[in-house]
Amino acid sequence: MHHQVAKTGSEHWAVVGHAAGRQVLHDWKVFTSTRGALLREDDNAAPYPGAGKMPVLTDPPRHTDLRRALAQMFTPRAVEKLSALAHEVARALLTDLRARGGGDFAADVAAKFPLAVQAEMLGIPVEDIPMLLDATRRSVDESDHDSFGHHDVMTYFLQALGTRRGEAGRNLIDALLEARAGGLPLTDEEIVLTCDNVVVAASQTVQHAVNGGLLALLEHPAAWEALREGRLGVDSAVDELLRWTAPATHVMRTAVRDTELAGTTIRAGDAVAVWVPAANRDPAVFARPEELVLDRSPNPHLSLGGGMHFCLGAALVRVLMRALLRELIGADTSLALANKPVRHSTWAVNGIRSLPVEVVPA
Ligand code: HEM
Repeated sequence: MHHQVAKTGSEHWAVVGHAAGRQVLHDWKVFTSTRGALLREDDNAAPYPGAGKMPVLTDPPRHTDLRRALAQMFTPRAVEKLSALAHEVARALLTDLRARGGGDFAADVAAKFPLAVQAEMLGIPVEDIPMLLDATRRSVDESDHDSFGHHDVMTYFLQALGTRRGEAGRNLIDALLEARAGGLPLTDEEIVLTCDNVVVAASQTVQHAVNGGLLALLEHPAAWEALREGRLGVDSAVDELLRWTAPATHVMRTAVRDTELAGTTIRAGDAVAVWVPAANRDPAVFARPEELVLDRSPNPHLSLGGGMHFCLGAALVRVLMRALLRELIGADTSLALANKPVRHSTWAVNGIRSLPVEVVPA
């Protein structure tokens, strides 16, 4: 546990151990999500817009309701149905990249892939994908930040809500409306904020795992070769790549009362951040933590969070990553780094902005 004070004066307790991280994520009665789930540069204790109205910023019992309204869409069985489409989209994007002899994997493949697969289930017609991809990117991208990104996503779903009211359930809005029709009193504001939560998470996270995952494999040719030859399985590889890349750098909570954490007294109101890359390399839990071990098992990484707010898209993340990985290793050509990758410069995501690659013989 380290007490951190940013240049801006913003303070937090940095949790770097796996056990303490799990404690924070699981003990929602002590560590609330309603003051934000990400550190802020100004004041971590300030009221948070959207708190109590979207899953990630809500504690039980309301959190349980919001999550239940969405759960059916994201069960392993429901998302497995997207596997064929995920392969199709991955193959098309990679074929295009290969036809050009290479390009920027981050922009040409990783950024486009997740939303192209999920658009239909999220209720986004093909023609609206570029607009939503741009709006969700602006809502999280530190280099092009404007507060209108979230606003644009919410306006889009508010309009969709207006036109879809009462229709039978298939996509995101329908599932929420169905929950309302089934007796759960969801306000329009909760529906729109929940759509924002899901759509931003759905479109802006997987790309970091995919970029970081490809880079890790390019830097570990023996691991890549073992995957290609089928000596190592894709399923466990996906989880090790998640542990390795830790796309969400941290998950923040705020203590609602004085408590003990890893032998330190935390005061009510203190911000606590679980640092995922550190927890994922805790030697008390992971043998050879600094090595990429693609068949690591068990692999209790915290990259998808834990406890009540465990990533709703977890099963889907695995479907998407497996499909892309299989399409990458299954091709008769390979990829190599063509230039230095450029990383995002933010404390919120471990992400790669640009990943120049060239096609090479397999
Ligand atoms: C590799 C990609 C992803 C990573 C690393 C990731 C990571 C996370 C983490 C760490 C949390 C916990 C946040 C907290 O406890 O405060 C979370 C929650 C969540 N994730 Fe993901 N996520 C990914 C992909 C997705 C996808 C594809 C979806 C699509 C639906 C999604 C939807 C959500 C939602 C709705 C929550 C909030 C759940 C709740 O509060 O109950 N995520 N994710």
